[in-house]
Amino acid sequence: MSLVLGIDTSCDDTSVAVVEDGVKILSNIISSQTEIHRKYGGIVPELASRKHIEMIWPVTDEALKTAGMRLEDMSGIAVCHGPGLIGSLIVGCSFAKAICFSKGIPLVAVNHLEGHIYSTFLVEPKPSFPFLGLIVSGGHTCLYRVDGFGKYKELGRTRDDAAGEAYDKVSKLLGLGYPGGPAIEKYAKEGNPKAIEFPRAYLPDSFDFSFSGLKTAVLKFVKEQRTESKELRVNDIVASFQASIIDVLVRKTEWAIRKEGIRRIVLTGGVAANSELRRRIKEMGEERGAEIFIPSPSLCTDNAAMIGAAGYCHLKAGKLAGLDLNPKAYLPL
Ligand code: KG4
Ligand code: ZN
Repeated sequence: MSLVLGIDTSCDDTSVAVVEDGVKILSNIISSQTEIHRKYGGIVPELASRKHIEMIWPVTDEALKTAGMRLEDMSGIAVCHGPGLIGSLIVGCSFAKAICFSKGIPLVAVNHLEGHIYSTFLVEPKPSFPFLGLIVSGGHTCLYRVDGFGKYKELGRTRDDAAGEAYDKVSKLLGLGYPGGPAIEKYAKEGNPKAIEFPRAYLPDSFDFSFSGLKTAVLKFVKEQRTESKELRVNDIVASFQASIIDVLVRKTEWAIRKEGIRRIVLTGGVAANSELRRRIKEMGEERGAEIFIPSPSLCTDNAAMIGAAGYCHLKAGKLAGLDLNPKAYLPL
């Protein structure tokens, strides 16, 4: 039996998990910072790092207690070393290195995006390789061809805003609250997705994405409505905005199925918690005869169990990190 302690402090949540053999979650503790950042309408990096420093040990202690384990029982410590907020990453990495040094436990470094992909192995059914991995989060929107552990080929990525970032910015613009994704999902349920024809940047011949034009289109629409003193139909605006994002994500995935000849899709990342995106990808999968794998919403958003799952594979492959490990804000997979 191999036990891995996973640590993720890449963004605004402190998370520590104990994962058995890369597939079984014994604990997955997440200390959310949402309340701290809410009043600013977005993450304040310095406040995030300070809170990580405060929470890293209590969260680790709780993860170990919940799993009924001690640090000494761990076969390895897997820490997310990027991409993310550098001050936040430093906290997790320094903490992980200190444990490994003092207890003589092997250290492994996991890319946050690799973690998101590996969240799929924490639930049943598990996909076999190769598969297409669509990661849709606050910091990233990327499409990968995954042929096995460590074999990731980037097919496309966002050229500007990530999908989650667009959700957050549109929510802020409309005063719907933070984080934007869940707020928009709620209001969109009451709106008409066909009410407003917002643009869809399909970028033909490319698997790249672009969502900043959409965000600007929403801003322009809202300004015009306000200037003309028209009633702002918020539900319709967000439903139409969401339809535009989802149409692009679904269509591009469809293209990738045809181009790569792979009929297995893994959808993950914070935006994959969205029920309409989940429904539409599954619907497309049925039409195209493709298998769709989507972890539960709480495993799609940031968590340390996914770092533990990927970390197990590093450990098994003997891909250890040294105590000179440095986190990186920009870290392509
Ligand atoms: O993966 P994640 O937890 O953190 C990053 O790695 O960025 O993703 C966070 C993003 C945020 O932009 C948040 O607004 C979005 O995921 N999100 C959602 C939903 N829940 C979280 N977007 C749409 N619908 C949701 N239900
Ligand atoms: Zn993430």
